[in-house]
Amino acid sequence: MSDLLRPVAIGRDLVRRDGMDKVTGRARYAYEADVPNASYCRLVQTTVARGRVEAMHTDAARQVDGVRAVITPFTAESLHTDGGELAVLQDQEIAFRGQVIGLVVADTAEAALRAAELVEVTCSTAPHDVALSADRDDLYKPEKVNPSYETDTSDGDVDVAMAAAEVTVEQTYTTAMYHNNPLEPHATTAFWDGEHLTVWDSTQGVHPTRAVLADLFDLDKEHVRVICPYVGGGFGSKGEPHVHVVLAAMAARAVPGRHVKLALTRQQMFSLAGHRTPTIQRMRLAADRIGHLSGIAIDVVEHTAKMKEYAEQTGVPTRMMYAAPNRATTHRLAALDVPAPSWMRAPGECPGMFGPEVAMDELAEALGIDPIELRIRNEPDVDPETGHPFSSRNLVTCLREGAARFGWADRDPRPRAREEDGWYVGTGVASSVYPVNRMAESTATIRFERGAYVVEIGAADLGTGTWTTLAQIAADALGVDVEDVSVRIGDTRYPVASVAGGSSGMTTWGSAVVNAARAFRDKHGSAPADGAEADGSTEDNPATEQYAMYAFGAQFVEAHVHRDTGEIRVPRLLGVFAAGRIINPRTARSQFIGGMTMGLSMALHENSVLDPRHGHVVNHDLAEYHITTCADVTDIEATWLDEHDPHVNPMGTKGIGEIGIVGTAAAVVNAVHHAIGIRVRDLPVTLDKLL
Ligand code: MOS
Repeated sequence: MSDLLRPVAIGRDLVRRDGMDKVTGRARYAYEADVPNASYCRLVQTTVARGRVEAMHTDAARQVDGVRAVITPFTAESLHTDGGELAVLQDQEIAFRGQVIGLVVADTAEAALRAAELVEVTCSTAPHDVALSADRDDLYKPEKVNPSYETDTSDGDVDVAMAAAEVTVEQTYTTAMYHNNPLEPHATTAFWDGEHLTVWDSTQGVHPTRAVLADLFDLDKEHVRVICPYVGGGFGSKGEPHVHVVLAAMAARAVPGRHVKLALTRQQMFSLAGHRTPTIQRMRLAADRIGHLSGIAIDVVEHTAKMKEYAEQTGVPTRMMYAAPNRATTHRLAALDVPAPSWMRAPGECPGMFGPEVAMDELAEALGIDPIELRIRNEPDVDPETGHPFSSRNLVTCLREGAARFGWADRDPRPRAREEDGWYVGTGVASSVYPVNRMAESTATIRFERGAYVVEIGAADLGTGTWTTLAQIAADALGVDVEDVSVRIGDTRYPVASVAGGSSGMTTWGSAVVNAARAFRDKHGSAPADGAEADGSTEDNPATEQYAMYAFGAQFVEAHVHRDTGEIRVPRLLGVFAAGRIINPRTARSQFIGGMTMGLSMALHENSVLDPRHGHVVNHDLAEYHITTCADVTDIEATWLDEHDPHVNPMGTKGIGEIGIVGTAAAVVNAVHHAIGIRVRDLPVTLDKLL
């Protein structure tokens, strides 16, 4: 399969091709699109969590100097939609606090802001409900969980295994509500030329965004162009268009001939750009005295929005992670008056490896077995869920290699065994896993122009390195120097490509590029004429029916807890990953340590506090929604095995954007427990829980 490749460019530590433009400010992001006749859009949001807009008075707003349009639910154009998140301004119903109920377009951002403040709104209110708990009597079972996994699974009988087991763990773990906070807020610049719509949008997928806009505005796809060369982070929150994209297009239609710019404020991102649902995870582990699991079960309760269902697949990794003959997983949802939850880095696996990996640590402690050894004893020969062999599974090597690098062998397993200058010192470990995802068909075109190769594909680079790594893949697939390959992405003018999501970019787009290169060489040989061209598309991989395909990893954490104050420091993080072939160690390392840092953030800081009285996230800015910064991580290291997997795709890559966040929070909890002897089962780990 991979015989065309000579891995010469692949594996090279090349700098990002877009790096210099980004750090010097030359790279233009969506809000900075260089357009004439710009107008600025400001949104009006509700301050109640449920009810109805009864009236809106816009006279005062319209009188502000420079205001060109004010749009409300009473005046907005009709979209082609049956409801849901994107049916914005289509009726007067209020489904969550912060919902957009109007917009203002003006010649300056200041005038738009002033006018938005002058819009008078009269709402009627109805009782709202945003409180998640596992004992609500209205929990329901969704049909499927994201994106299309079975909701519940059961093999054998976990109840019987629990009753017969020599040792059991039965505990409930919770993860908080979280919000993605990419550096670049969600932003769109929109322009209508007759029935042609052009948007510059900060998105993880120009083609998927185009498809949504074409549907909503009832346009031929060819009449919509979406442009996005650069993204300042997304983490899933830009994986699907949210209402601001639609609103920017509506606003632009109201001011013909003008380009309208709309950026969400940081505060607006806490109600308009999705979030990770809080989860409640009831874990059960059954084992014998030597640590072989006879049963493993997870029962997940989480919230969704009444307006739009999104069911995080939190129980899914428990289905395949460890060998246990009896296994069960369930998902139940409470539909609340909240904005629609959505994707956040490793949806499913990230929260879903928290409960299980802390429970494994609790089991190791109960058994008096080293937590690494316990995991090794439960290593399955084949995928427990499907019975298929793994295309490659190197979790044990990651654990052993990590243990050696981290200095695990000297560890005294007793809590509070180490105290240095008033700080208890502990270490913890957890496993990581992430599936090898392949998205719907993508196509690449390769052309020979003026002595060099040009690859065109409507893919995205949300900071991950796509500009650079696709060139590396193309160079090896063509058998030419990487310096002779240029890449064009981030525009619907280039061939259709899938969303940058599910860590699927390299598998999906890379396969298309390899196929295009193969077609190019077949057609034009190695001395092509100027203008020579060929296409290639991602194809189904029959091996996905025969093998279970996952990346694995092991995360090690050193935590210090102050004896008197409970203050927590994490001076050392190590991740060892088995994620197939690494295209570019520089961009890969950045993805791994970025994920681990985000996992540390989840463990210690992040927590969207939903006020049940008013239905909104009270800490909706970076002053109060705390995230891990550089100062919080002093020594972070990511490394990987030289893994060769012939089954996943022609490159042998597994996807690395998300696995770095999986397991980190559990490793932190386990390290904190080892330090001070207190088991925190509810994230985040804050000092009040350690006193
Ligand atoms: Mo990622 S949450 O699949 O963009």
